[in-house]
Formats: sequence, C-alpha cells, structure tokens
Amino acid sequence: MNRRRFLGLGASVLGAGALASVAVPSAAYLLREGRPGRPLYSDLDLPEAFQVPLPVPAVLKPVRTDGTNDYYEITQQTAELEILPGVRTEAWTYGGTFPGPTVVTRSGRAAVIKHRNQLPVPSVVHLHGGHTPADSDGYPIDLLLPVGSTAPAASSMEGMPGMAQMVGHNLVGERTHTYPGKQRAATLWYHDHRMGYTGPGVWRGLAGFHLVQDDEEGALPLPRGERDLPLMLADRSFAADGSFKYPSADSSLAVPGVASGYMNGVLGDVILVNGAPWPRLDVDRAHYRLRLLNASNTRLYRLELDPQPVGGDALVQIGSDGGLLAAPVTHDAIEIAPAERFDVVVDFSRYRPGTEVRLLNRFGSGRTAEVMRFDVSSRAVSDDAKVPAKLSAVEELDASAAVTTRDFTFRRSRGDGWTINGDPYEPGRILATPALGKVELWRFSTDVHHPVHLHLNPFQVIGRNGGDPGPWDEGWKDTVDLRPAEAVEVLVRFTDYAGTYMMHCHNLEHEDMAMMADFTVG
Ligand code: C2O
Ligand code: CU
Repeated sequence: MNRRRFLGLGASVLGAGALASVAVPSAAYLLREGRPGRPLYSDLDLPEAFQVPLPVPAVLKPVRTDGTNDYYEITQQTAELEILPGVRTEAWTYGGTFPGPTVVTRSGRAAVIKHRNQLPVPSVVHLHGGHTPADSDGYPIDLLLPVGSTAPAASSMEGMPGMAQMVGHNLVGERTHTYPGKQRAATLWYHDHRMGYTGPGVWRGLAGFHLVQDDEEGALPLPRGERDLPLMLADRSFAADGSFKYPSADSSLAVPGVASGYMNGVLGDVILVNGAPWPRLDVDRAHYRLRLLNASNTRLYRLELDPQPVGGDALVQIGSDGGLLAAPVTHDAIEIAPAERFDVVVDFSRYRPGTEVRLLNRFGSGRTAEVMRFDVSSRAVSDDAKVPAKLSAVEELDASAAVTTRDFTFRRSRGDGWTINGDPYEPGRILATPALGKVELWRFSTDVHHPVHLHLNPFQVIGRNGGDPGPWDEGWKDTVDLRPAEAVEVLVRFTDYAGTYMMHCHNLEHEDMAMMADFTVG
C-alpha cells in the first residue's frame, strides 16, 4: 500500500467529519488501534485450553432430491449443550447443535430449505454470501414467528432513534427459502438476521456453515474429506449458571440493542472453534484446508500459527468470501473481521512429528490470544493434496466500466446507535437503486472499524484510501473491514434478481443499533 497517500487521505477524512467522541490517535497508529468492542467477562471458571477435541458439525442430509433441487429441513429449537466441560448451556440452535448442521450443495442445483421455528422468539434466517432472490434472502422484518403464535408481531425498534413499529412479510411456524445455486463454489454461512436482535440471536447459537461445491473446484488436488475443515471462530461469555451472558438493553428482549456501554460491540472471553472452547485437533503431516469463518459479533482476529514453519508463509490462501482466488496468496498472518471467510491450506508436513502448533490471535490478550491447537502426529500417511499455482479463472471487474459511483459513510449517530449516510436504518428507505447487470463503484468511508457487508452479490476491493487494496482484500469479497478513518473502494455488479436487499455493518451490535440500509436492484 502507498502509505503516504493513505495517511494524507486519512487526515482529510477525519477533518471532514470525525466525531468529537472518537479519540483520534496519531496517524501512525490508525491502522492498529481502535479495534471495537468492550470485554464482557464470564462469571464462572474458564476451562484450560487445548483439552476439548475439535468438533466438526455434521453435514445435513437432504430429505429428498429431484432432477434440479435438493430439499432440506431445519428446526430452530432450544437445546441444552455442553460447551464448557461439565457446564450446561441453553442455546438457540439450528437443528439442536451449535454450529448448526453444515449444508453442502452443488453449484447449479437449487437448495430448498424449510425452516421451522420452535424457538421462544421470532427469527429470520439469512444465507450469508448466497446469491438469493429477495423473497428468500431473509429481509430483517420478514419474521418467522414461533410455531403456534397468533399475534401478528411487528418488528419493534422502539428505543432506536428514528425507528417505529413495522410489519414485514411475517409467517407463523414455517418458511421455505429457495437458494437457486447460481454461484460458484464458496464457503457461505447461515445465521439469524432479525432486525434489532441479530447480536443476541447469533450469540446464543444461531449460525451454521453452507458450503457450495462445483466442478472447477472439485477438479483441483486440494485437501478433501477429514482434511477439509470448516472452522467457525466465535467468542462468547457465560453467566454463573452456564447460560450465555449478553448485555441486552432489555433482558426480556422487548427492546433491541445492547446496554449503552456495549454499543461499540461485545467481546467474549471464551474463544470457541466450532462451538468448543480452545479445542485441539490431531493432524497428520499432510495438507489441510481450513475454511476460517469469523462468526464473532464484534471481535477482530489476527491469526497466526505458532511456531511458524521454517521459511514462514504457513497460511496459503486459496479462497475468500466468494470462493477460489485466481492464484494462491501466502501469509504469515491473516486479519479476519466478523463474517469474513479465509480459505487456507496449511501443510503440516513442514513441522516435525510431535509439534504442538497453536493458532494464535495476535489481536487478543490473555486467554483471547489463543484460538486452538493442532498436534502434529508422527504416523506415516499418504498425501496427494497440493495447492496448484492456478486455482480458478476469476473475472476482474473493470473500474472504467463502472456506470455509477456511490458514497456511503459509516458513522456513529449523535445519540445511541450507528448510521449509514447519516441515518439509522429504516426498512423501505432506499439508499441506492443499482441497475441489474451493471458495474458500479461503491466507496465506503468510516469513523471507526466497520466490517461492511453487501447482500446478493460479492464485490472486488480495488483500493484503500486511494492506494492499493490491502493484503487480505484479494478475490471476491462480500464483507470488507473498514479501518479507522479509511475509505475503501469496491466494484460490484448485481445480477439475476431484482428486489430490495441489505447492506450493513457486520459488527452485530452496530447492525442491531441501526447500521443498515436498503438498496433496490432493478
Ligand atoms: Cu451475515 Cu446481512 O448478514
Ligand atoms: Cu460497525
């Protein structure tokens, strides 16, 4: 990145409108400091690290298939889970587990998923990264009310400035979402998206993987089977009785948002991977594909293996949010913001048998500086997997083809809450009307860290503060972390489905406190 240009523009962005309440450190620290969130400490003793084996969520079987579609059913239900050893935690789950079952679908085939809501609260499921028609996308006021509900619930945002009661397209008991599968192989995830309550819903367990596979990826000699691991990173806190601890503004969840001290986000003190605290995994001296997903509400991670293998470059990135990169990119460390995915291959044969390789979080401190551990086995194994020098034919969007440039600023509001272009979210207020099939240049600028996410189509990052994209911006992205005083430019082209979609901050406390906007594709 061109550092001089970065600092120059950063200063002008701050001058133009940074909030008085945001402390502005000297420019040299802008990239590193100011990560969002406030720690929320558990009220029970935390387990030792690296005791619990890494769980891998079960793959969901279709209830039936036909020539074009695969049909699935998921029941949203409470479940008693043992997350901390010897402690019972009541979770809100997809299908009784946290993470929910992994949905694995084929590009070109439609996944038709019927959700049944047996939770005590309304829900809205969204397939993050899905190329989805609007009526199946999970618009945040299109509530799925619990089985047996009678009252037509409105989505109350009372208490959020500028928000009134609104009724979306509500259903009681069951809703079927159709995901047509017109997209390339990628690591997607599904999670709750209910307006005002996404933070507590995901925190309590409403998240799972959805992997799309295709022939192009299937033809590559990448690690498979037990050596292809989805890893959902999520921090959580626990109350003394074992329940999830979360600082809702109202513990009965009648009012959205969090207690005002947590408006900038909630940081748990327990790091879970696939729902287990600081787990460990025995690995062969072989290549593994790790599909890293940051499903934390707020926490940013800087992931690094310790020790590093001789020669470094331990993390060979093969994919990002939207699937395979054109060619692999090597990293010593990866910074991952909420909702981002990094698909990496690690060759554990670069380590001696018996090495204990920790996955660290260099942004954490104390217990949150550790994530999990890989214990390298000594047994002899065969391993045909490798990372080819060319992975995929990736179309590069062309900035000169952009028909429109749009600016979106992500800022704190004057009261409690967060805004896009100065306003808190209001369903039906349309901030942009992109035309189907046309390339547009969208510029996001910010006060503090905001991971910005677009529904419907992924985008390509073409610059940060007038300079080059950062080291983790490669490929098709659907979420990009804006850093303090930054402006990020992306090229996007919305395709196939007209309708109204969301853009929002994926810091879930920011999202719940109104940092969302609608755009309508037509
Ligand atoms: Cu992962 Cu609109 O969300
Ligand atoms: Cu934000």
